[in-house]
Amino acid sequence: MGLLLFSIKLLFLTCCGLFFFLLFGNPFEKAFEKRELDLSNLGYYPPVENYEEERIEKGIHYPSGLIVAEGYEIVNATCTACHSGKLVTQNRATYQGWKDMLTWMQETQGLWDMGGNEEIILQYLAKNYAPEAKGRRINLESPDWYKLD
Ligand code: HEC
Repeated sequence: MGLLLFSIKLLFLTCCGLFFFLLFGNPFEKAFEKRELDLSNLGYYPPVENYEEERIEKGIHYPSGLIVAEGYEIVNATCTACHSGKLVTQNRATYQGWKDMLTWMQETQGLWDMGGNEEIILQYLAKNYAPEAKGRRINLESPDWYKLD
């Protein structure tokens, strides 16, 4: 009797298994599938196609906006790591002024020790972004005002 009951149970379980297999397919199939890492839609990383292409136009390096002169590659690599190059290019200062800004950034904003590059960067900045160079358009002296009707 026990054997008959056991056989019926076994048959029942086998049928159930078969039923679920037909309904849901092999549950282990996915586990053995080789998955490819898809890096393209990681939310926090900008998709590669959104990067502005590197180019030089009229002596300006894009996308940093830096003047192409001796040492600009180092300045680009160092000074656009945390903020836009615009923060650099819109500023004007003497050698000492730039040095003070870098020191301030090192003391308060986590700018690292630039080693031998610091001198190259300072030379570049003092030369290309000196106080007398224009950082923004000059004020209009006597604009030709016209009346709006
Ligand atoms: C470790 C990050 C970091 C790096 C690298 C960095 N900076 Fe900055 N910088 C900052 C932060 C943060 C500010 C403040 C931004 C703000 O106020 O919104 C700043 C501000 C500035 C300002 C504006 C200062 C002012 O008085 O308004 C200038 C100019 C500047 N940085 C130039 C540079 C130059 C040149 C380099 C390359 C040598 C550089 N930065 C590299 C973090 C950095």
